[in-house]
Amino acid sequence: MQIAFTLNGKPTTVDAPPYITLLELLRDYLDLTGTKEGCSIGECGACAVIMDGELVNSCLVLAPQAHGSSVVTIEGLCNADGSLSDLQENFIAYGAVQCGICIPGMIVAAEALLAKHPNPSRELIRWALIGNLCRCTGYQQIVDAIEATAQARQRSASLQPKLTEHARTI
Ligand code: FES
Ligand code: FES
Repeated sequence: MQIAFTLNGKPTTVDAPPYITLLELLRDYLDLTGTKEGCSIGECGACAVIMDGELVNSCLVLAPQAHGSSVVTIEGLCNADGSLSDLQENFIAYGAVQCGICIPGMIVAAEALLAKHPNPSRELIRWALIGNLCRCTGYQQIVDAIEATAQARQRSASLQPKLTEHARTI
C-alpha cells in the first residue's frame, strides 16, 4: 500500500506492506537508521519518534497509522545545515553518550519534552525519560545535558527581545 506522510518536514510517499511497523518503514524502506531497534515491544524507547507532536515508540505503531501524519525522527533534529543541534552537542559535552544505542531515542524524547516544557525541572526531565532505558550512563549526564540545553535556550530566548530593541536604536 501507499503510505503518504510528512517526514522530517518533507512530503514522503512510500510503497510498503500494511503489516510492518513504523520502525521498519523508517529503517528498512526509507533508510533512516538513526531510529534504533532495541526491544521491539515498547519497553526501551530506542525507537522513539515524534508523531503529530507526541512521543511514540515506532515499534508499536503500524506503518499505515503514519499515513497523513507528521513524523520527526532523530535525522530531523539536527540543525538546518546538517550540523549537530545544541542538544546533541551537549550530549557530547556532558559525556552523556557511551555505546549510543539509546541516544537517538533519548534526544527525541528530550526534544518532545522541551517543545512542551521549555524550562523543565530535573524531576520533570527524569519523568520524561521514564520510557527510555540506558544500560550504560546511569542517566545523570543525560539529565545534565538536557537541563543545560533548556537553560541555554531560555537565556538566548530572553536575550532576543533585548537584541532586537538594541538593533532598533542603532
Ligand atoms: S524498540 Fe521500540 S520500545 Fe524498544
Ligand atoms: S549509552 Fe549505551 S544504552 Fe545508553
